[in-house]
Amino acid sequence: MSPSNSILTGRDIRMAHLIDGNACADQQCARLSASVAALTHGGHTPTLAVILVGENPASLLYVRNKTRACQRVGVRHEQHLLPSDATESAVLTLIAQLNEREAIDAILVQLPLPPQIRTEQVIAAIDPSKDVDGFHPVNVGRLMLGLPGPRPCTPLGIMALLETTGVPLPGATATVVGRSAIVGKPIAQLLINADVTVTMCHSKTRALADHVRTADIVVAAIGRPQYVQGTWIKPGAIVIDVGINRQPDGTIVGDVDRATAAHAGHITPVPGGVGPMTIAMVLQNCVMLAKQRLQ
Ligand code: GUN
Repeated sequence: MSPSNSILTGRDIRMAHLIDGNACADQQCARLSASVAALTHGGHTPTLAVILVGENPASLLYVRNKTRACQRVGVRHEQHLLPSDATESAVLTLIAQLNEREAIDAILVQLPLPPQIRTEQVIAAIDPSKDVDGFHPVNVGRLMLGLPGPRPCTPLGIMALLETTGVPLPGATATVVGRSAIVGKPIAQLLINADVTVTMCHSKTRALADHVRTADIVVAAIGRPQYVQGTWIKPGAIVIDVGINRQPDGTIVGDVDRATAAHAGHITPVPGGVGPMTIAMVLQNCVMLAKQRLQ
């Protein structure tokens, strides 16, 4: 892209502006609290059922954070904790029960699942109208087609964070690093739907740095600590760092080497960037599904 075509020309670039995920999530939660209060006043409290199989420490932490967030905005939640050796049919039976229960608006199966359980079977068993993660094939198809439906929470949170920058998306270029079904693929599709020109990169991409260098927006979601070098980032670009990598010394770092990324225009911190927004979007989807089911 020539400089005159860039959405980022003319900026006075000294220090990347930090995109505050906690503040953005707080705002979303305040807005959601009002919706939840109105729904509760009308006789139905939005209700989320969370299924956790086993005791993966990261999953336990996510579930605890989701529980706290539900309490904060007044969403009712119930947890279904299954042992790590639970069978696939036990999980499917539980999902069938939750699908049937009128009081349940949204179902979340925390991933990853233990190896004896097939993730695709479990996700496909969730009623698409209660699929708070937007992972069901019907909802993935709706995203592809640009039809309304629950969108995966991390990508939805990223779109909200991008909006806070005030940078117009139509015509911008984005490079997404990582092609997971949870983040990489859906964020690419959401960006395409927002008229962004998207390049998808993954572990077999040649010359990754060249793809990153041209991008107005970089989404790093590969799960490798500080893999994307700051020197690859175009001056003034928006950098969304989805990585949460625990270092041997206990510190958490993202997928971007931020020490060399001071020339970015905007960058999400880790922690405190994408993470809080994922949780806020779980609640947003839950409230949306509850409203739809009441209609
Ligand atoms: N594990 C890591 N991220 C997610 C997510 O967004 N949803 C679910 N269900 N599990 C996850």
